[in-house]
Amino acid sequence: MSPSLLPASRILGTGHYVPERILSNRDLETMVDTTDDWITERTGIRERRIAAPDEVTSDMAVAAARNALEMAGLTPADLSMIIVGTISGDRPMPACAVYVQQKLGAPNIPSFDISAACAGFIYGLSIADQFIRTGHKKYVLVIGVELLSRFLNWKDRSTCVLFGDGAGAVVLGPAEGTSPPRGILATRLYSDGSLADSLVIPGGGSREPLTPELLEQQRNKVHMSGQELFKFAVKSLVSCAKNVLAEANMTADDVTWVVAHQANVRILTQVSHRLGISMERFVLNIHKYGNTSSASIPIVLDEAVRSGKIQPNDTLVLCALGAGISWGGAVVKF
Ligand code: ACO
Repeated sequence: MSPSLLPASRILGTGHYVPERILSNRDLETMVDTTDDWITERTGIRERRIAAPDEVTSDMAVAAARNALEMAGLTPADLSMIIVGTISGDRPMPACAVYVQQKLGAPNIPSFDISAACAGFIYGLSIADQFIRTGHKKYVLVIGVELLSRFLNWKDRSTCVLFGDGAGAVVLGPAEGTSPPRGILATRLYSDGSLADSLVIPGGGSREPLTPELLEQQRNKVHMSGQELFKFAVKSLVSCAKNVLAEANMTADDVTWVVAHQANVRILTQVSHRLGISMERFVLNIHKYGNTSSASIPIVLDEAVRSGKIQPNDTLVLCALGAGISWGGAVVKF
């Protein structure tokens, strides 16, 4: 490994949390004009989790964070920064991250949200890596969390069947001292605002302040052009994975596990084919949780770590794409 590729930061702990309530495809059949077969065949999703009425986004984030801190052998007092990837925080203002900081009882450290939808966790990981690389921060908590069930139109079958609630977290710390070197080898981030309206919550911001009429039209809920996104996702996830691997001086042959955003198993099948990495090397849990947006990568990562599937020194390629359109990838020597 050349000195320029020496990792600065390493994942010291992972954690996740999903709400108890399961909403199955069969349950959805009673709510909208859909079928278990359609959802399973078109997406790979069989069920998803839905937050309890008294549960808020930061509650889920804190539960995932505590698990990640425990695995890292650290406490909230050790943290020097909290980054939360979310588009469904507790409130439009302030950041979900400050509620996480308060509930964890962490010191008065910088705590902020990243609004990059499904790519929010990768964005957070990349930002945390930069702060650790420059020596400004030591232990950074990066969370992906979404409570999208409160931002869905439950009468729109083209969106409400896809998403679920949950949270995942990692604690990043300095990579020094590992031999062979382990940690984040490369990250890449992208956006294409020309496709901003293909996945959007149109109402509630400065462009469409909410009125009773707009609420009636569900303008405060997720609207999506699924097909347009599908094609763009396949193309962009493939080129992103290739670019970030090249930056780490690696190819698809070096990858032990692909830890990709769980949006649609058909997207991942096409990505697998085009990358030349078999589906057996993709970690998957979309059948259980649906698309949990920014939470999907840290949740599937934590499950694979805790089950022993992902082992120390495995080479992981992470990649995600979502509203923005924003996307990104990372290569991690775990
Ligand atoms: N049940 C039954 N039928 C449905 C449903 C449903 N839940 N939803 C749509 N249909 C119908 C449509 O109305 C259409 O009917 P028609 O042919 O009579 O017009 C038919 O099924 C086919 O619809 P398509 O939209 O062409 O279906 P497609 O195969 O494209 O699958 C899907 C739709 C699952 C949304 C897919 O396009 C997709 O996964 N897109 C990408 C989503 C994504 O990756 N989003 C980005 C990440 S999410 C984030 O950032 C938060």
